Amino acid sequence: MGGVHISIGRAARRTVTSPGMGNASPCTAPKRSVPLPARPILKLGHPTLLARAAAVPNPRAPEIAALVGDLHDTLDLVGGNGIAAPQIGVSLRVLLYAIPLGRLPECESFRPVPWRALVNPEIEPVTGEIHAVGVERCLSIPGLHGAVPRPTVIRVRATTPQGEALDFVARGYHARLIQHEVDHLDGILFPMRMTDMATLAFNDQRPPETFRIPSWACPEPIAGDAA
Ligand code: NI
Repeated sequence: MGGVHISIGRAARRTVTSPGMGNASPCTAPKRSVPLPARPILKLGHPTLLARAAAVPNPRAPEIAALVGDLHDTLDLVGGNGIAAPQIGVSLRVLLYAIPLGRLPECESFRPVPWRALVNPEIEPVTGEIHAVGVERCLSIPGLHGAVPRPTVIRVRATTPQGEALDFVARGYHARLIQHEVDHLDGILFPMRMTDMATLAFNDQRPPETFRIPSWACPEPIAGDAA
């Protein structure tokens, strides 16, 4: 999900050093950090975005940690709340997201969510009959937004790149973000979930903030919600 593009407030994690200019010897030359370029983000129309991504046989494999690092660096550079591996051309079931304090919608009751990588995530609606309409954006569909109905509460099971099994309930915007990213693993982009194409718009023609989430769509907080 693109969301409102915010600064993650985190310096580029991986840097390379290069010797300074001048006559200093390589041993004494000052070093400066140069951010490595993020992986390019595939855009709407690329076939990888429409493919079902493959399950990860070993979530703890070093290649998966490196992939999560690439996802992290990419989000750092472009801003955004979540990204899925197919968006950088890797058709594996891995996603990464975070919900910083400044991105919590007004009516949401959960706490900010720190960076969280999900490998082989599985989701199911907890209250399947309740669908809330919310505005979504996507890094793979820059400049556009649209209203998408989704279940408001979901159960999420996944594995972390450290091999930890996760099983938690997500609600509201948190649930929406995860569903958007899991959709990427199944080759589904948010316009394919829209039920009212009249809500599809360019951000500079109709700001996405003109939408308001109805109060009835705000789920009740549950004590102990993992958020
Ligand atoms: Ni997206």
